[in-house]
Amino acid sequence: MDEARRWTESADAWQHWAEGMASPADRINGPLLDLAGATPGQAVLDLAAGVGEPSISQADRLRGNGLVVASDLVPAMVNGLSRRAGAHPSPPLPVAADMQALPFASGSFDIVLCRFGLMFVPDTQAALREMRRVLRPGGAAVLAVWGPRLANSLFDRLGRRLTTDYGPAAERLLAPLFRFAEPTDLVAQAELSGFPLVSSQNLVLALSARADHAFWQPTLEMAFSPLVASLTPAQRAGLEDRIAADFAAETDAQDRIALAMSVHLLRLET
Ligand SMILES: C[S@@+](CC[C@H](N)C(=O)[O-])C[C@H]1O[C@@H](n2cnc3c(N)ncnc32)[C@H](O)[C@@H]1O
Repeated sequence: MDEARRWTESADAWQHWAEGMASPADRINGPLLDLAGATPGQAVLDLAAGVGEPSISQADRLRGNGLVVASDLVPAMVNGLSRRAGAHPSPPLPVAADMQALPFASGSFDIVLCRFGLMFVPDTQAALREMRRVLRPGGAAVLAVWGPRLANSLFDRLGRRLTTDYGPAAERLLAPLFRFAEPTDLVAQAELSGFPLVSSQNLVLALSARADHAFWQPTLEMAFSPLVASLTPAQRAGLEDRIAADFAAETDAQDRIALAMSVHLLRLET
């Protein structure tokens, strides 16, 4: 599926769940923004910003002393970001832009951020070249990509259920998320673009969710929007019953379900 269409169709779900998912999102944003290390007065560009992760947190950290530009390919995401960021004292500046051809002058930014975006871009080299071009000499790009699918249990469990029930459409939505699950490919791409890796870390999070509520609902709607939207209400209800039953089988003695997340953080410097 065309990425612009996928994310346009997903934008309502992303906006709907943004505040509910802000706390788990912060578990990733914290280390990502620490690795980026933007300081007061600096200019930061967030690429594939969706509805504001991590640009809203970055803007909160800078407290108006500096500039945060939040850009995304899809206008519906940018609009959602604007609505959400309006509640913050120093909101990021929203811009619709394809990260393969950015509308910014060379050397405009101190830091580029990209959280779970690069894997959806057809031309990785073009995106890396653009990141490097818009950074000033000595600037840095910090990227977050998903680790292996089996180490990201919520995606994996939902993906298995949807594939069993609806065939390869679910796999086609899930596969791009794990394009850089083994980061050696991304490291090689960065080296090829003359924008070498300086440091990386694997963030492994052990989470747990209460078994008696549908903790999987945001991920179902955000990651699989086009598929879920094509279901009738009866099909959707049946799917949700089967997902609940899948997870019920994993409930521990404290009525909780263990969930794992694995994320690679990479810092590239000009
Ligand atoms: C998984 S979401 C990540 C959003 C946000 N960074 C986050 O972590 O919550 C992927 C985002 O990449 C955007 N995207 C896909 N291709 C893009 C491109 N070529 N240029 C800019 N953004 C793109 C999509 O519109 C979508 O908002």
